[in-house]
Amino acid sequence: MPEPYALHGDVAVITLDNPPVNGLGHALRTAIVAGVDAAQADARVKAVVLIGANKLFSGGADIKEFNTPKALAEPTLHSLIRAVEASAKPVVAAIGGTCMGGGLEISLACHYRVALADAQVALPEVKIGVLPGAGGTQRLPRAVGVEVALNMIVSGASVSASHLAKTALFDEIVSGDLLEGALAFARKVADKRPLPRVRDRKAAEPEAEAFFQFARNTVGAMAKNYPAPLKCIDAVEAAVNKPFEEGLKYERELFLELVQTPESRALRHAFFGERAAAKIPDVPSDTPVRRVESVAVIGAGTMGGGIAMNFLNAGVPVSLLETKQEALDKGLATIRRNYEASMKRGKMTAEQFQLRMSLLQPTLAYDDVKDADLAIEAVFEDLGVKEAVFRKLDEVMKPGAILATNTSTLDVNRIAAFTKRPGDVVGMHFFSPANVMKLLEVIRGAKTAKDVLATVMQVAKKIRKTAVVSGVCDGFIGNRMVEQYLRQALFLVEEGASPQQVDQALEKFGFAMGPFRMSDLAGNDIGWAIRKRRYAERPNMIYSKLADRLCEMGRFGQKTGAGWYRYEPGRRDALPDPAVDKMIDDYRKEKGITPRRIDETEIVERCVYALVNEGARILEEGIAARASDIDMVYLTGYGFPVHRGGPMLYADMQGLYNVVRTLHRFAANPHGDPSFWKPAPLLEKLAAEGKTFN
Ligand SMILES: NC(=O)c1ccc[n+]([C@@H]2O[C@H](COP(=O)([O-])OP(=O)(O)OC[C@H]3O[C@@H](n4cnc5c(N)ncnc54)[C@H](O)[C@@H]3O)[C@@H](O)[C@H]2O)c1
Repeated sequence: MPEPYALHGDVAVITLDNPPVNGLGHALRTAIVAGVDAAQADARVKAVVLIGANKLFSGGADIKEFNTPKALAEPTLHSLIRAVEASAKPVVAAIGGTCMGGGLEISLACHYRVALADAQVALPEVKIGVLPGAGGTQRLPRAVGVEVALNMIVSGASVSASHLAKTALFDEIVSGDLLEGALAFARKVADKRPLPRVRDRKAAEPEAEAFFQFARNTVGAMAKNYPAPLKCIDAVEAAVNKPFEEGLKYERELFLELVQTPESRALRHAFFGERAAAKIPDVPSDTPVRRVESVAVIGAGTMGGGIAMNFLNAGVPVSLLETKQEALDKGLATIRRNYEASMKRGKMTAEQFQLRMSLLQPTLAYDDVKDADLAIEAVFEDLGVKEAVFRKLDEVMKPGAILATNTSTLDVNRIAAFTKRPGDVVGMHFFSPANVMKLLEVIRGAKTAKDVLATVMQVAKKIRKTAVVSGVCDGFIGNRMVEQYLRQALFLVEEGASPQQVDQALEKFGFAMGPFRMSDLAGNDIGWAIRKRRYAERPNMIYSKLADRLCEMGRFGQKTGAGWYRYEPGRRDALPDPAVDKMIDDYRKEKGITPRRIDETEIVERCVYALVNEGARILEEGIAARASDIDMVYLTGYGFPVHRGGPMLYADMQGLYNVVRTLHRFAANPHGDPSFWKPAPLLEKLAAEGKTFN
């Protein structure tokens, strides 16, 4: 391990070392300042090099310290930057790997910067709803020019050092060993005075007013729900128009303003929620995992094909099994077509396409899949069919193979019981289209082994999914909640709203798609089939029969050209249809319902609080380990607006006390299913104690 401070002849080398990404935690900040001070005091030292261990400079703030007193303890990032900039001896940042956020802000305070050509620099703060708060918005425009800096700060995107080689951000691009290059450079500039400082440069923009106006128009249109991107523009404009110190002060004000916004809170929640979801409370992070180097997918239909693509994209060989040649050919053709479309859009090269297809082995024989490390079943949603498949998998698969089911509605414990190895059985519930949707619900059966869970979580990461663990229950986390949401949407229409009104209200709230447009896209027949089962299983549950009527008219959605809306051939626009209005009208008359005007607030509250109340039950039953897991399911699988942080955080932000009061008000409405609105005991308890879910 490198010493945090070491002398290399007449150059002091300070190493940033805080694995995995040299996060700028309190201990590291203290060590850097101590190194700078030691270099000042040592007469032998002529220059200082700042370099990162672990093959990168720094990923920025230490997220483990977020929201802890350590984040604000001296030396803060500001004090550290001041100490570096004030050094009487030249400080050279040696940048390799990634250099992000606070890491880049420190580099900008150094007198010189040298980098490897493939180093990646970024100010990604906008992604958590804030802006760089330690001088980044003031120094970067002075180093790389206003336009480039603005693009980087507003987008948060990474840029390679080679791309910025011609700017004042880098004094030299080093080839070969970074430390050697940095030492040689430091010796070259050791005696040069005065020391150059980025803050003394000008951020020039000849047409500033027009430039910033244009930027505001463009960014404003794109960043609709988020305040941070526009504030980034304000801050960069200050770098042009204000003296440096004033600009810094302004940046600070904007930063503090943004930290307080609900949007930033939601984005930070999603950021941490994603990391939290990867941890399973009773499965230690050092649980040994099984090797997964090959995968078998059983069933090449809608889901099987998409699931296979995930692994092919990650370079994992897949054998894809079907019962009939025809079905296999169809599945293969779909995969091929998807990839060809990606090539057309320039997202994939011909070589990548060839490589992926070469990893795919289509087959009709179990003999070809028996050696796979992981088998994922995606056959018809029928317990009998699943039983046959799992009995066969149990018979042929090698010992230690993981057997996963993609079932949406069946009991994973029953499926596991078809085998003599229920510990190896787990649910991997992908969402459609499986090659696109980020969410993967990992269903933990009563007997699922811990190492199987740990392995599947790792596999999820490899195929770039957000995995959330769910216990076994009907619908798991996501669909169990969405059922209540859809039930409310239908009750709202029975009572007087139109499907368009409901969709518009929820889309205005921020959902990617309202419930009726979503149902038309997914296929109304799917919900119909589930409801038919429900009527038998839960005769006491009250459902609106409106959606059944629609299906009886053959209106299954986009695929039949008509659902809650009508669709013109070749187009996806949802057009209102008088035939649907009439169907709804007739239904209301038949039931003796006098339609009433329903406002947007009621639409949004009833649908979203239906998610919240069911979510609270899911949490209470231990189906989800934490509220943020539920939020991650909704953010990554159901189009819930990211700027609201998911249903549970949304409820927290409204105040659970207020949520409970609203639920009581809904319970007083005799229409629909008043009993549903009895607050879940957990919700009631938290509200009474003034607490939150998250
Ligand atoms: N479609 C979705 O949106 C979605 C989402 C999540 C989960 N799921 C689940 O995924 C599974 C598959 O759904 P789908 O939509 O892909 O269905 P699908 O009908 O498109 O595909 C099923 C495929 O399985 C094949 N098959 C049937 N029996 C088989 C057997 N014994 N061995 C091998 N192959 C067999 C069929 O030929 C067909 O190609 C179901 O359990 C479903 O609940 C579906």
